[in-house]
Amino acid sequence: MEGKPISKLPDLGTTIFTEMTALANRHGALNLAQGFPDIPPPEGLVEAAISALQEGIHQYAPMAGRPDLRAWICSHYSQRHKAVYDAESECTIGAGASSLIFAAIQALVHPGDQVVVQSPAYDLYGPAVQLAGGQLVEVPLLDASGNWDLDGLLGACHAGVRMVILNTPHNPTGTTCPTGFMDALAQHLEGSDTLVLSDEVYGPMVHDGRKEVSLAACPSLRNRGLAFGSFGKLLQVTGWKIGWAVGPAALTAELRKVHQYDVFSTGAPLQAALAHFLPTKEGVAHLDGLASMYQAKRDRLLAGLAGTPWRFTPAQGGFFQVLDARDIVPGDDGHWARTWTRTHGLATIPLSAFCTPPTPQVRLCFAKEDATLDAAAACLRDIATDHGN
Ligand SMILES: Cc1ncc(COP(=O)(O)O)c(C=O)c1O
Repeated sequence: MEGKPISKLPDLGTTIFTEMTALANRHGALNLAQGFPDIPPPEGLVEAAISALQEGIHQYAPMAGRPDLRAWICSHYSQRHKAVYDAESECTIGAGASSLIFAAIQALVHPGDQVVVQSPAYDLYGPAVQLAGGQLVEVPLLDASGNWDLDGLLGACHAGVRMVILNTPHNPTGTTCPTGFMDALAQHLEGSDTLVLSDEVYGPMVHDGRKEVSLAACPSLRNRGLAFGSFGKLLQVTGWKIGWAVGPAALTAELRKVHQYDVFSTGAPLQAALAHFLPTKEGVAHLDGLASMYQAKRDRLLAGLAGTPWRFTPAQGGFFQVLDARDIVPGDDGHWARTWTRTHGLATIPLSAFCTPPTPQVRLCFAKEDATLDAAAACLRDIATDHGN
């Protein structure tokens, strides 16, 4: 056949997120699979977006993003992490954090470069490294006791490694980077040219009194790294696809070389709405209340599972909870996640989409209205009962 493409990503099909969402829609199932909230965004933000449209903000925003929104992002880092970033040369706004993570990998990874990623990992990193011609080096995120495996990561980070990618709070496991972990990595990398990307899209959502951990707060990682955030996740507007990257001017300059020909500029009226809303009383209160809102949602879902054979460690951060079905069913979580969508009306993501788990495990998104969480807990109780427990 003429015109046959030679795939650059031959092993990649439709993602499990797309598949499970389609399956959920087909069976009218609750969709706790894909990571998006069904909670409405703050009212003031929606009003600000309407005003921005009515005011006639319809043309391209600057390539790096609106200056007032970049100034807010930089003030966010100075307040939360005592990190100074220059809004002009060290902060870029893109089409969601994912577009900027992708651009950073394309801009900074050369063919043959090693890129260390903790596994399981958010599904963007691997294909992005592959497209850049890099070589993915996967190390386990967790050790046998379920703690972040520092020795495993450091063992893979020799001087020739081009890049390390971190993600905290972590998708899919719901774990968070322990205090001191970034400092230890920074010390280990001293004297090397290894770069660090830190995907912090769930940044402020840390539970049970934990402290938010950011690459930005660790001076020597800050000098060799980019940190990424997402307004979609922070404000329940994932469909707006507006995120940011902060990092030293030299790295930002390289990142923008790809960003300017890929996304170039994103959602001008939505950027205006964010810049207007975030400094308001409602905006500040929303961000201050984010961690407690999601902790309460996690607790509500897990309280509904009390006394059932579902096993879990409560998520430490973010809005994903992993549930272990080893006492309910044997084997393949992919099979069970698909089956339960049809039979019990609940769509989840099998953890085997991210790694090979030792037991059947599924990931649920708890960024949902309380009624959705209660209905999901009822489905999970029924699943346990119907499998004879
Ligand atoms: C770890 C992680 N990084 C990045 C993203 C993408 O963020 P955005 O929607 O801002 O592109 C997601 C979304 O699910 C995510 O879970």
